[in-house]
Amino acid sequence: MSTAPWPSPLRHFVAQLDEQRSADVPDMDQVGRLLVELAADEEFFAPLIAEIPAAHPGDRWLVRPERGPRLVLVHRPDSVMGYTHSHRCWVAIAPVRGVETHQRWDAVRHPGGRAELRLADERAMTRGDVATLTPPHDVHNHGHVAGTGPSPYSLILLGDDMLRFDREEYDPGRGTWRALAPGDPGRSNR
Ligand SMILES: [Fe+2]
Repeated sequence: MSTAPWPSPLRHFVAQLDEQRSADVPDMDQVGRLLVELAADEEFFAPLIAEIPAAHPGDRWLVRPERGPRLVLVHRPDSVMGYTHSHRCWVAIAPVRGVETHQRWDAVRHPGGRAELRLADERAMTRGDVATLTPPHDVHNHGHVAGTGPSPYSLILLGDDMLRFDREEYDPGRGTWRALAPGDPGRSNR
């Protein structure tokens, strides 16, 4: 991966990530540590965060090659939580600012759209925390829960372009699932 066009914190991050990725299956603890290290760079992220108004959902791609790992800064406003979904690639999430509530689900899909969903893990994450997921245990949702603190600006690192894959979207409240064809990003916010 060429690192030339990026500002130095991203160049450093991508170079270290490349070393981790020489193995077929990356060490997700190491990947998580690298992402937390990057998320701590207040000086780098402050101006990027300032460009995303707190009142609205927003994102800013930071690293986006055609294939392989990609990095996006995502903001969700107060009380806005994303839909539950799978990725079919590995994922790491680390807050830069605010409180990101992350829920991981164990999901069993049945024909006809019914799903059994069990909340496997729920964490209110702040800077210094990281959540990592590896398929097939890659069903999650995250965003802001009222009363937890300021709304989050978080780094999301994806192992590949998830829109190339057949994925699923879930509704834990209704106990349902639906297929997301390649290219379908699903519904963004609940
Ligand atoms: Fe996700």
